[in-house]
Amino acid sequence: MTSIWNTQKPSTKKGSPWDTQGFQPKPTVQKEVNTPQPNTLQIEHVAKPLPVFTTIFADHVEFNKYMKQVILEHREKNPEDIESNVKAWHSSWMTHKENPKFQPLVDRVLSACTFICEGYFQCQKLEFSIFNLWAMMYEKGEHTIRHSHFPSDFSAVYYVDVEPGCAPVIFESKTNNDAAPQVGEPLILQPQNGMLAIWPAVLHHMVPATNGRRMCVSMNVDKYGRTDV
Ligand SMILES: [Fe+2]
Repeated sequence: MTSIWNTQKPSTKKGSPWDTQGFQPKPTVQKEVNTPQPNTLQIEHVAKPLPVFTTIFADHVEFNKYMKQVILEHREKNPEDIESNVKAWHSSWMTHKENPKFQPLVDRVLSACTFICEGYFQCQKLEFSIFNLWAMMYEKGEHTIRHSHFPSDFSAVYYVDVEPGCAPVIFESKTNNDAAPQVGEPLILQPQNGMLAIWPAVLHHMVPATNGRRMCVSMNVDKYGRTDV
């Protein structure tokens, strides 16, 4: 079936015109929606501050001994590199399905997401599940390129073992993309052992080349079975 949406590609980039680099700032041709003719999507932007929630687990010294062992064991069994935005060793996106030893972290993150929804978004009884979970080990010079985790609801990272002076995670770093206006300043979050960070998955973020090692676990978290009606 032919799409009624005009998906003409920008001249500067191959691939889908619907990624963040390919948006056309102000298409000049807009046709009536819901006709068999192609339509152009008009894009306006509004500014809204988005929260990045952090906490340090009170029992992180003990918990991280356990998590570090779990990650090292998992890497030993799964040493292969996987190509992705993360330019460091990481496990598969479905590590939580493959290794039940990550469940204690899963439980804490899901509980935190429910707490955030009740306390910050005033939305009761939402339940969440982990869609993806992967462990990462950055060595000196490794990095992650800018990306977001849309279409998940939340993304999270838990820092298991990070060296002082290791690279931060930078949210909404500056870009040269004229089609996506920059509002406000980037947020630079410095990892600490035992820190859990949770944020709306649409936020872009990146990790510059690190000087210190970083062992951490990232997750994508989604709502399921809404019972808030
Ligand atoms: Fe990420």
